[in-house]
Amino acid sequence: MGIADLPVVVVNEARCHYSAWNADMLRASLGSGYRCRVLEVNGEIAGHAILSVAGPEAEILNLCICTSLRGHGLGRAFLRHLLHTARDAGAEDVFLEVRVSNGRARRLYETEGFQQIGERPDYYPGPRGREDGLVLGRRIAEGPLPEPFETCLA
Ligand SMILES: CC(C)(COP(=O)(O)OP(=O)(O)OC[C@H]1O[C@@H](n2cnc3c(N)ncnc32)[C@H](O)[C@@H]1OP(=O)(O)O)[C@@H](O)C(=O)NCCC(=O)NCCS
Repeated sequence: MGIADLPVVVVNEARCHYSAWNADMLRASLGSGYRCRVLEVNGEIAGHAILSVAGPEAEILNLCICTSLRGHGLGRAFLRHLLHTARDAGAEDVFLEVRVSNGRARRLYETEGFQQIGERPDYYPGPRGREDGLVLGRRIAEGPLPEPFETCLA
């Protein structure tokens, strides 16, 4: 992800999340040392992700696939790419937070080996009041990681 990608990423981000990151937050991420990635399909940005790696721990701070391209395996491929990126950077565990109501994302993470390790009551704002968050984690230090599908990652 680069500065030139931000106009598209900001639009996609706003469509993906109730508490979307704004342009300033995304721009700051680019200069922060986070691994900021866009997923390209046929030269167009199909999704974006932000990964933080600090020593043996990595955190997926953001993962988003455009609404029109969901359900085709891109989210799974992108997640797998992030796991490889985290391991290549020296991480041994990957963590993330997900809304209790986000069944699609929870199913994706569960089937990629993430397990619930905590709960954050009333963590997320939402249209019907606050909502609990789940903290998920996955060990990546040992064993093979599933390969991403063939995609264009920039
Ligand atoms: C979560 C998200 C990244 C998944 O991306 P995607 O490209 O649609 O996911 P995939 O097509 O790779 O599907 C991965 C798995 O998600 C689950 N899934 C996908 N579509 C689903 C649906 N309509 N209903 C329930 N589960 C679904 C399935 O387990 C699926 O695996 P399967 O196809 O082998 O059964 C995407 O929905 C998204 O960007 N959502 C908004 C942002 C978000 O919630 N990010 C995660 C925050 S923690």
